Parts: sequence; C-alpha cells; structure tokens
Amino acid sequence: MPIKSGPEPSAKQVADEVRRLCGKGLDSLGFAPADLAAVAPVTWRINRLKAEKKAVIPAHVYQRPEVVAGVADFTGDSYALSKRCAEVRAERIVFCGVRFMAETAKILNPAKEVLLPAKDSGCTLADSITASDVRAAKRKYPGVPVVSYINTTAEVKAESDVIVTSANAAKILRLMFEDHKRVLFLPDAWMGSNLARQLGKKPGSELLFWDGKCIVHENFDPAMVALCRRTYPGVKILAHAECNPAFVELVDFVGGTADMLRYVRETDAPYYMLVTECGLGEVARTAMPEKHFIPMCRLCPYMKATTLQSVLQALEDPQPWQKVTVDPAVAEAAKRSIERMFELAES
Ligand code: 13P
Ligand code: SF4
Repeated sequence: MPIKSGPEPSAKQVADEVRRLCGKGLDSLGFAPADLAAVAPVTWRINRLKAEKKAVIPAHVYQRPEVVAGVADFTGDSYALSKRCAEVRAERIVFCGVRFMAETAKILNPAKEVLLPAKDSGCTLADSITASDVRAAKRKYPGVPVVSYINTTAEVKAESDVIVTSANAAKILRLMFEDHKRVLFLPDAWMGSNLARQLGKKPGSELLFWDGKCIVHENFDPAMVALCRRTYPGVKILAHAECNPAFVELVDFVGGTADMLRYVRETDAPYYMLVTECGLGEVARTAMPEKHFIPMCRLCPYMKATTLQSVLQALEDPQPWQKVTVDPAVAEAAKRSIERMFELAES
C-alpha cells in the first residue's frame, strides 16, 4: 500500500528519535545502527500523525518490538488491552494486534473509529468456531453456561454468557462452577484441558470444550523440557496456558502473558524460558535486562502481520477494509459478555 508523503523529519529529529528508541531498549534487542536509522523516520511520522489525528495505539505484547517500543501508547495482554480500551478518550484507535482484539476495542467504543492496520491479522483460535457452532452447542447442552475465550469473533462473543482471557479464566470458571455442575469452555481445547486439570474438573463431562487450537502454542515439544533443564540448571520454564497439556505438565508455571511477566519479576532464577510467542521474550528482555532469558518461542504470523509501514498507512489514508465494523445488535450482546468478564474478574 503506497504511503502518502508527509513532512520528513530533519536529520536532528531522526537522531533524537534514534536516541529515544535506544532508550526504549531496541538497540539491546539487536537493532543495529542501520536498522534504527531506517525505523526512526517512520516512528517519528507515526507519532506526529497520531497526535494530529487524535489517535491512540494499543499494542499486544506479541507485536513487533519496533511497534511496541516505537509507537504504542500502551501494551499488555488481552485483558489489560480491553480494560484500557474501555477507558480510551482519543477519537480513533489504531489497534496493533489481531482482529478479535480490535473488534473488542470497537465493541467497547462503538462511536470511535477503530483501525486494524494489517489484513492478515486473524487468529486460528478465533477462526475455529462460528456463532452457529455455539448455537448448536447450546441446543446440545441446554442450561450449560457458555464461557468463551476472548480469542473469538464478535458473533461468538454475542452468543456467550461470559468472556475470559488467560489472565482470569481459572477464576471465572471457578465462579461459574459455584452455580453449575457443567460449563462449556470455547474454543481452545488445550487451554480447556489445562483449566480442567487446574480446577479438578473432569474434562469432557464437567468442563466441556471445543477443538480449537492455536498454531503457535500447540506444537511445543515436551521432550525439550528435560534437555533444557540439563543445559540450564535452575532454569524456570514458563508456558502459556494455550500450550499443549503434555508440555504444561512439565513446566514450573503456566498462565497468560501478563502472569508470565509477573512471575519472572517476582522470582529469582538463573535463567527463564518463556514458552510462547517470541514477542513476550522481547518485552521481558527490555523490561528486565538483568535477567537471563533462554529462547524457546514461535512467531505468530498474524501478530507479526502488523508493520510500522502498515500503521503509518492506516493513519495517513485508512482503507475501508482497515475500519473495524461490528453489527450493532451483535456488539450490544457481545459487550454484555465482555462486561460480565470485567465484573467477575475484579470481584
Ligand atoms: P494473552 O491474553 O495471554 O496475552 O494471550 C493472547 C494470545 O493470543 C495468546 O496467544
Ligand atoms: Fe491466535 Fe495463537 Fe496468534 Fe494468539 S498466538 S493470536 S492464539 S494464533
């Protein structure tokens, strides 16, 4: 997509921007002077345009480091991003993340323009289930509450009783089990099994689930755990809750991205291994340069579809396909289930 021309930064403005980016840790992540010199004019233009267009840029922790460090106004896990988006005052939101996250921002801000820069920013979990699948499941299990992961479309959210994220799924399911013998958790099968184990519920009978999988988290190899422990004595291995249960069984900690960062911050170990999308390791390394991180991660092609160029283009000349729309009736029903999450997560 061609970028419209705007004012170019002066040499001094580029040099100041390079310094600012280094202050945010991009040099320590391996950005060479030539990389920084290429990134700085783009981040400079985005930040200038962002102020001019009264826009705010939320970014998920899996986004490219130059997006997180260079242009994001706030970063976080899915829960923190949805909470912050519910309070946004800016006129438009340029969401650096994947479609279900941008849709959530739109549901919470129906009057604002929400832009999703990259076309290919889907999610295999969100694509694994449709609203008609949920309606069929509700017919099959009448009276069983539907708890859906935030990694779902607006239409699926609208059919759900409550939304959860990796940060609050266990707490909200526990609350649901106080009033119900069975709960339907959609759509992540691995996360469903991990949660059933954590809550002491029978998978498939007390905690029912769908067969959605995340392409990033489903394939981590449990055989790697013993090798890593031998190579890095004392290593703490942390896995995202979407990882396969055979892997999760062997690790020191399981949770969402915010829980993983908190665990690292609050413990003292010689090495940490964050088994998830690679962006989290980059956020952790810049936030905690004194700790040692051993890589074992995969890239999410959907998260990485957003580039600085696509953010600049969306701000300069948003295309119709970049404007996130949600049918008002769907948005209203989905908002109820998201707000129920806020209520239960903070109860
Ligand atoms: P978090 O909410 O833990 O950041 O997870 C989002 C996600 O898409 C994980 O793959
Ligand atoms: Fe979806 Fe997996 Fe990518 Fe997260 S990492 S956005 S769950 S495909």
